[in-house]
Amino acid sequence: MRINAKLVALFTMIIVVTIGSLGFMAYTTIESTVIDARIQDMKQVVIEKSNQINNLHDRASEDIVFAVKNTRFAEYFELDDTRNGNVYDDNNVLQYTSSQIEIKNKLESWIYDFQNKFTVDETCVIDRFGQQQTALVQKNILPTENLSSKKAGAAFFDPSFEKDDGESFVQYPYVSPATKRWVFAYTTPIVTYNDKPAFYHFEMPMYVFQNLMSTDVGRMYVVDSGDYLVADNHFTFNSEVGAGKKGQDPVEYFPSVSSISDSDKFSKILDDMNSLDVGEISYSTYTENGEKHFVVFEKLPTFYWTLVYDLPYSQLLYGETTLDNLKSTLLVISFVVGAGGIGAVFLVSNRISRPISLLADSCKQQDVHSLAKIDLKTDDEINDVAKALNAMIEKVNEVGQLKEEFSSMVTHELKTPLTPILGWCQTLKNPKIMGELTDKQRSAVEKIQSNAERLRNLIGDILDAEKLDMEKMKFDYSEINITEFFTHLKSNLQDVMKTKELEYNVSSDAELVMTTDKDRLEQVFNNIILNAVDFVNQKGRIDVNAKDSGDNIEFSVKDDGVGIPKAKLDGLFKKFYQVDTSMTREHGGTGLGLAIVKGIVTGIGGKIWVESKENFGTTFYFTIPKKPKTRTSKK
Ligand SMILES: Nc1ncnc2c1ncn2[C@@H]1O[C@H](COP(=O)(O)OP(=O)(O)O)[C@@H](O)[C@H]1O
Ligand SMILES: [Mg+2]
Repeated sequence: MRINAKLVALFTMIIVVTIGSLGFMAYTTIESTVIDARIQDMKQVVIEKSNQINNLHDRASEDIVFAVKNTRFAEYFELDDTRNGNVYDDNNVLQYTSSQIEIKNKLESWIYDFQNKFTVDETCVIDRFGQQQTALVQKNILPTENLSSKKAGAAFFDPSFEKDDGESFVQYPYVSPATKRWVFAYTTPIVTYNDKPAFYHFEMPMYVFQNLMSTDVGRMYVVDSGDYLVADNHFTFNSEVGAGKKGQDPVEYFPSVSSISDSDKFSKILDDMNSLDVGEISYSTYTENGEKHFVVFEKLPTFYWTLVYDLPYSQLLYGETTLDNLKSTLLVISFVVGAGGIGAVFLVSNRISRPISLLADSCKQQDVHSLAKIDLKTDDEINDVAKALNAMIEKVNEVGQLKEEFSSMVTHELKTPLTPILGWCQTLKNPKIMGELTDKQRSAVEKIQSNAERLRNLIGDILDAEKLDMEKMKFDYSEINITEFFTHLKSNLQDVMKTKELEYNVSSDAELVMTTDKDRLEQVFNNIILNAVDFVNQKGRIDVNAKDSGDNIEFSVKDDGVGIPKAKLDGLFKKFYQVDTSMTREHGGTGLGLAIVKGIVTGIGGKIWVESKENFGTTFYFTIPKKPKTRTSKK
């Protein structure tokens, strides 16, 4: 992994983890703070609402108690006419005496005023026998024939007699027979000197109570212990809010509480509601349609009802903002900060790793024969590395210079005495100049001559290898005809072949012509063929071939000699490389031949490779371009 990538990965990880955990912590802190605060608010709202509901009942009770304080009520029932019992005509219609009517009229105008002031649907005066003495329905005096005599069967009848002066009884909602609306009924006794012969009763429409449920956000509702909703700001009760049928059962009219949620968690909350004491407030949560809901609920003093305030998660915050908005805002901020951070990491890590790459590049581009100073200025440790490398380069260059000077000096100094040695050998062998030599003398001179020649070749090889190393070998191109070149090659090596009685074939697939360095090409062939001669057995075989291959000519030298072990093939073209390095080896040489061959072949733009099988022989292949790729001439 690159340093750059490592730095980026490391810091990206750090940034992501840090921002991620900070963001998460920030969000959870905000979330729980919001929830806590909101639950407090909700409790406040619930307390206020329950106060309003209680006030509604209290006020209704106070109102009815106040209304009945009017002395006409008692007066009416203390009349002898009234005390003597009800008189009916043939149609069962209640008959009044004139004194009864006189008081009744005053009562009715009082009740009328009362209805005018308060939201009351129906008001009536009922005697102890269940006979309505008078009734006003929505400010209209009920005709006498419409007065009911059967009120003794109503649910409020008996309990109302239990109440004392100044007390009132609240009847569980029912559908008023007079208005066909759901109502609360309040009843208070009419106190006379003797006993409690009657009571005063009024019905308040239930919508007054249902209208109290309105809230800015969330759902507010009242649950009856029979698990139905007697009020709910998310539910529209029938037209005029609360219209029902006479005698209707609440369960048939009011929506079931399970319409809110039928989750287990919610029914658990309903259980909790039932175990609350009056005035007690509690809090819980449930999940519906994947959204968490927060509920605060309080037990009301009337009818064992529970007031519930329900806020979904999405409405916990006021106004436009929701907690989800907040979450996405935090997410966006974290993302932007994170992206910025990662961008910065990229820049910084690039700044750190760039000089290293530059250093590597300038090392790669170096010419081995003359190392150039690295030009890199940074203000960090990389600068020290560059400086150290430059110091090293200076030393290496110095050493290279010395080596070059030394080797050219040595080879020159070695070659110089060889020329007169070889010259004098030649002169010694000339009878005209030196006189006839004895056989012994001639053989000695020839030994001197052949060894001097070997020495000259060796120096030549070293020089060539040196030139190739330094890339200083120059090539002298001229047009050659391969057939002619091969004829020359064949005759030249004929004598060598004879010593081992070898079969030596030279062939060319076509009439080939090329422009190349003839002497160097011959040197290549000589090196390869003379190796082959050494590694084939007596009466072995060597085949030299040339064939056309487009822009190149492909040459091959094939022998049926000992071959080269597979493991040794790799290093074959390296300098001083020999397969057999034992002291007893028959093949002489220095291991420079093939290195020079490869240097020349690649120097003139070709390629060389070898195929060999132990005990079966070796074939060297090389290609040479027909036309030189870059033309250079010998100095
Ligand atoms: N035709 C061949 N058959 C078997 N071995 C060969 C052949 N040509 C080269 N070699 C191996 O490659 C080695 C390197 O050859 P070369 O570079 O010419 O060096 P040298 O001839 O001086 O040993 C030889 O020593 C020999 O072991
Ligand atoms: Mg050789």
